[in-house]
Amino acid sequence: MQIQILQERPQDHAQIEPLLDLTFGAERHKRTTYRLREGVAPLAELCLVALDPEEALLASLRFWPILVASAPAILLGPLAVDPRLQGQGIGRSLLRHAFAEARRLDHGLCVVVGDPAYYGPLGFRSAVAAGLVMPGPVEPARFQVLELTPGALEGRRGVVERLPAAPGRLPVSGEGAA
Ligand SMILES: CC(C)(COP(=O)(O)OP(=O)(O)OC[C@H]1O[C@@H](n2cnc3c(N)ncnc32)[C@H](O)[C@@H]1OP(=O)(O)O)[C@@H](O)C(=O)NCCC(=O)NCCS
Repeated sequence: MQIQILQERPQDHAQIEPLLDLTFGAERHKRTTYRLREGVAPLAELCLVALDPEEALLASLRFWPILVASAPAILLGPLAVDPRLQGQGIGRSLLRHAFAEARRLDHGLCVVVGDPAYYGPLGFRSAVAAGLVMPGPVEPARFQVLELTPGALEGRRGVVERLPAAPGRLPVSGEGAA
């Protein structure tokens, strides 16, 4: 099957929510990562969908602006692939596209709460070991971080926080930091 990867469009929303309910369950909104997204717009350039030729949704990937140790970073998730199509490389393909775009946009650090067996081979490592703290209940082994630019973690030890600035806008020139 031919799969197209596009930036998420408004007309995709109606298909994304049922896929997220199916893969993560209706209780997903209680997770700590959802607190970090509340009132914050996702990073449109990094939110991707995988579609079949009839534009049926096969997978969705979203990213959000956050602060890590008071400086801008991005939060990966949710990533969900249609259960009938898991294990065929769609998830990794979406991530590859998104990371390339994130680097192009100069994002340096990416945080995820997910399966280390899946994210480890993509370069993620323990965020706890790196000195980062998640503000809420999270399984320590699932809390991971990726340097999108080498050295992005140097001197970055501290708490992951929700972006306090206007929704969807990364702080610039130190604004929102400190
Ligand atoms: C986890 C998920 C996103 C992976 O997407 P996918 O398209 O099925 O995965 P891919 O086919 O791209 O997998 C790439 C590699 O990861 C492996 N892999 C897939 N799911 C895995 C998992 N849960 N744990 C460990 N490895 C996994 C694959 O075997 C493959 O390895 P290989 O390249 O050595 O063969 C998808 O299975 C899913 O939606 N699961 C339910 C929701 C979820 O758990 N989301 C992730 C949390 S943010």
